[in-house]
Amino acid sequence: MTWAVVPAAGSGSRFGGDMPKQYLTVAGRTLLAHTLQALLAHPNVEGAVVVLADGDLHWSGWSSFEGKPLLTCIGGQARADSVLAGLAALPDSVRMDDFVLVHDAARPNLQLADLDQLLERGRNDPVGAILASPVRDTLKRAGDDGGIDRTEPRERLWRALTPQLFRRLQLTRALEGARDAGVNVTDESMAMERQGLRPLLVEGAEDNFKITTPADLARFEFILSQRS
Ligand code: CTP
Ligand code: MG
Repeated sequence: MTWAVVPAAGSGSRFGGDMPKQYLTVAGRTLLAHTLQALLAHPNVEGAVVVLADGDLHWSGWSSFEGKPLLTCIGGQARADSVLAGLAALPDSVRMDDFVLVHDAARPNLQLADLDQLLERGRNDPVGAILASPVRDTLKRAGDDGGIDRTEPRERLWRALTPQLFRRLQLTRALEGARDAGVNVTDESMAMERQGLRPLLVEGAEDNFKITTPADLARFEFILSQRS
C-alpha cells in the first residue's frame, strides 16, 4: 500500500481570481476533491497528506475521503517546500524506504489506468518513476528580440506530469539538497536527477494536465461533461 502527498498550498497567481484554483467547483465538487477522488480510488493507495497554505480558509476539514485517511499539514513558499512538509507529515507507518506518490492538487484528470501503471512499473525500478507524455509540438528557441534562433529537436523530449513515485527518505534528502543549494526544483524528479539518479518515464495520457489558467478549467469542465 502506498501513501500520497498532495501539494495544495499554492495561491494560483496565474489563474487569478479570489479563490485559490484548487477550491474552484466543477460538476459539484472542488478541483481538490476531484484530484483526491482520482488518487484514492486506486485500491493500493492507502491515504493522503494534503498540504495546505498557512491560513487556508477554504479547506473542508475532511479527515477521510473514500473511506481512507486524510492528514493535513502546512506548506511553504515554493512547491518543493510544500512537498517536503508533506513528506515529514506522513504517518510513522510509512517507512523511510517505502515508495510515496506526489501528485499536484491542480491535476484533477488523472486516470486510474495511468496511476496503476506508475505504481506497477515504478515499484520495480530501484529509483522510482514519473508519469510523462512525449512532446508533440515543434519546439522553437527564441532570441532576445523574440525572433526564432532555431528549431529544437523534440525527439526524446517528454513533458513531466504527476504523480511521481519515489522512496520517502531518498526524496526528502534530494529535495533538501536542492533547497540547501538554492536550486528551485519544479518537480520531484528534478531533485532526484540532481543526485545522479535516473527515474523511469512512464507514458501517461496527455490530458492529465495541470489547471493553470481559466482555459484549462474550461477544458476540464468539457471533459467531465463528455464523460457523464
Ligand atoms: N503548490 C504548493 N505550494 C506552493 C506552490 C504550489 O503546494 N508553495 C501546489 C499547488 O497548490 C498546485 C501544485 O503545487 O497544486 C502545482 O503548482 P502550480 O500549478 O504552480 O499552482 P500555484 O503555485 O498555485 O499557481 P501559480 O504558480 O500560478 O501561482
Ligand atoms: Mg506555482
